[in-house]
Amino acid sequence: MLDTLWLLSFFLPTLGAQILISCAYKSLCELALLSGNDVVLQCDHPRALWYFSSIHGEDGLLLSSMSNVKQLPGGSLQLTNPQPSQTGLYSCKDNDNFLVVEFEIDFQDITTLHITHKDLGQKPLQNETLNLGGTVLIFTHWEPWQDCNRCGEPGEHKRLGYCYIKEPLEKPMPCRLYLREEKMQFSRMRPELQVESCLVPCNPSQEINQPYFIFDIYQPGKLTNNVWLTCPLASIYR
Ligand SMILES: *[C@@H]1O[C@H](CO)[C@@H](O)[C@H](O)[C@H]1NC(C)=O
Repeated sequence: MLDTLWLLSFFLPTLGAQILISCAYKSLCELALLSGNDVVLQCDHPRALWYFSSIHGEDGLLLSSMSNVKQLPGGSLQLTNPQPSQTGLYSCKDNDNFLVVEFEIDFQDITTLHITHKDLGQKPLQNETLNLGGTVLIFTHWEPWQDCNRCGEPGEHKRLGYCYIKEPLEKPMPCRLYLREEKMQFSRMRPELQVESCLVPCNPSQEINQPYFIFDIYQPGKLTNNVWLTCPLASIYR
């Protein structure tokens, strides 16, 4: 029984390298994610119709034109390598045009990811204030630390942080959702990744066997000295 539960909790949130995003029936969920990492937006309606609008208040267009977006048989929407330009409102409606679920997503640009190691004294981005008519705070909203990558010996764990903006007395919002109408760009608008050392005891009932795959070997670019490392089926979300 315990084994079954563990399998469920491990396989449900990530489908392979994809992260499954769910939201309660008829609700709107607002969230920040990283560009370049595959996600599935859950909508359990076999004849679901998905609409997308990038501009606030604008009617959504039926989603079929984006090449990296695919509707799965159960109704959910799969976004492969989503781009910052795909920030906006994703609405799932049933065939009578009633809302099933809505996601307002800020795909934050992974190419600007600010990476710091806590134990090397590297500092995350600082809070800043912006003057946009009134004063707003721009800051990093951190997710919880992920699991340590080793047990019984020193390892590392990481956490992701997203750019959020907060008006006094208001609920914080992902930066690009807040700034949707004003096509403004600030250098502080970056997602973050923080690494920290960890040491956890081994707990056999919890150990997760994460297989790895070798698909290809790339030659370093002779001219640029750059190497692009691809890790198929990997995800920064875990
Ligand atoms: C930055 O702002 C956030 C949100 O108000 C707050 O939770 C956090 O403690 C602040 N960080 C610093 C270093 O002041």
